[in-house]
This record gives sequence, C-alpha cells and structure tokens, in this order.
Amino acid sequence: MTEQPPRSILLVCLGNICRSPLAEGLLRDALAVHGLQSDILIDSAGTGGWHAGAAPDRRSVEIARKHGIDISGLRARQVVPGDFQRFDLVLGMDGWNVADLRRSGPGGRIRLFMEYTLGREEDVPDPYHGEAEDFALTYRMIREASDALAARWAGRAASPPASGHASSTR
Ligand code: 4NP
Repeated sequence: MTEQPPRSILLVCLGNICRSPLAEGLLRDALAVHGLQSDILIDSAGTGGWHAGAAPDRRSVEIARKHGIDISGLRARQVVPGDFQRFDLVLGMDGWNVADLRRSGPGGRIRLFMEYTLGREEDVPDPYHGEAEDFALTYRMIREASDALAARWAGRAASPPASGHASSTR
C-alpha cells in the first residue's frame, strides 16, 4: 500500500546554509520526478540564526549546480515556534538538530532525516568546516535519501519511472 505523504515538511540543520538547503533542493527535485512537487510543501530552516537572510554556502550551491539543481535563490532562516504547527513533519539532519528541535517542539513530528528516509540511525555530517569531498558526501547521502523517500511516497521502487525525468545530470 502506498504510504500517505505529509502535506508539509521542514528540513532542519544548524545554519540552514549547507545541508538543509541542499536537502530542500534535492527533495523538491526527487518529488518532481514522480509528479508530487505540488502536493507537498517543502521548506528548510536552521536551529541557529547566525546566517539568517544569507544564501546557501557556495560549496552547497556548487555541488547542486553540478547535478543540475539551482539552490542559489534560497535564503537562510531560523526555526520559529510556529513551524511546529505549520509543518506535519520536521526532519533534523543530525542528532544535535533533533535534540534541539525536541526541546522546543512536539516530539511526534520531529525525526532524524536518515532514519525517517532510509531507516538508518545516521547523521548527515556537518560539512561546514570541511572540504569539497565533505560536500560531495553530503550530496550523496541527501540524494539517496530524497530519491528513496519520493519513490516511497509515489508507491514505487527506488528507481525513477522510465517515462520520468529526462535529466542525466543527477
Ligand atoms: P549547516 O552547516 O548546519 O549544514 O548549514 C553549518 C553552517 C554554519 C555553521 C555551522 C554549520 N556555523 O557554525 O556558522
């Protein structure tokens, strides 16, 4: 049976400039492959507000661009209390994010991204102080998770449908 997708998802990391904007772009793209992009509201935010108003980190913009996805127009914001009413599902990129979120919001809607998407109790590691390889790993983890989630919600196996997306850059 097809799992009923939530109507809205908030993707959360610490700064909302590296991991969660990438997740926002990749999950949108994965949903579009299955024609689900207009059914589910997707947004991202940070538990911290230091980068509020800033564009994503150029290394996240670059790795997304390399795979045909433009996230340069996104702007960082901090999680606000209203997010816990507004979003059906709040996914933290690592255990720290989840712990921070659970201090301010209802536990039931807050889950670890890799656990919710792939059943793996794993963090998407913070690449901020890392190198290009760290961003490449971030990309691969989020891509796999986003593709699996979109396929699950579409009631399909993980591979995109043959009639779907023509892009070869993913
Ligand atoms: P993100 O990465 O949580 O994936 O956006 C970080 C961005 C900024 C900082 C830490 C992590 N910072 O300390 O400013």
